Amino acid sequence: MAVRYMGDKDFWDHKFTERDGRLMGPEKMILENSPLFQKGTLLDLACGDGRNALYFLKQGFKVTGIDFSRKALDRLRRFAAEHHYAVRTQEVDLSHPDCLKEVGIYDNIVVNHYRLGKEHLGRIHLNLASGGLLFVCGFGHKHKEDPFMREEDLIMPSDFDHIDPSLKRIRYLEEEERRGFLVAYLYRKTS
Ligand SMILES: C[S@@+](CC[C@H](N)C(=O)[O-])C[C@H]1O[C@@H](n2cnc3c(N)ncnc32)[C@H](O)[C@@H]1O
Repeated sequence: MAVRYMGDKDFWDHKFTERDGRLMGPEKMILENSPLFQKGTLLDLACGDGRNALYFLKQGFKVTGIDFSRKALDRLRRFAAEHHYAVRTQEVDLSHPDCLKEVGIYDNIVVNHYRLGKEHLGRIHLNLASGGLLFVCGFGHKHKEDPFMREEDLIMPSDFDHIDPSLKRIRYLEEEERRGFLVAYLYRKTS
């Protein structure tokens, strides 16, 4: 069965309910690029149960995690509480076109293993503070055919075609590794 990264809340609620008490480690490309994040606030879009959110909380960031899976957010809050970190969470379905209008402005936005629509990417600068970092990472356009991934969930270079000119691409990374073909796009808001 193909993994439904987008659009199937029951699938993800079930997946997070089935997980044991452990949290996966943070994304390698986040660790490798950690000096590029701006100290301050961070919005983790489609945060899941918070493996990356927890990493940033430990680094002293003020983190807000957004996901449409209540089960994922319950787990994130529990992991954060275990370490005495305060985390903000919001249950939001990112498939709604206006859903980012009310979420506020952040020093950093992370989108890890979720394909954010072109429309959101075209407006994401409105949610970033000047000097802020947009970090998008996941399976990319050269990912080989895989029963667990749908083609429409792969991050494509064209996803960024309509990104605002105030966002400058500062790094593009690709890596073929055990899980498949991973890409990371990093943008800095310059004005
Ligand atoms: C592969 S997981 C990635 C989780 C996390 N970012 C990470 O790196 O571990 C995909 C996440 O996207 C969330 N998701 C899928 N579709 C969504 C939607 N339409 N709105 C909000 N979250 C969604 C799922 O609940 C799940 O937590």
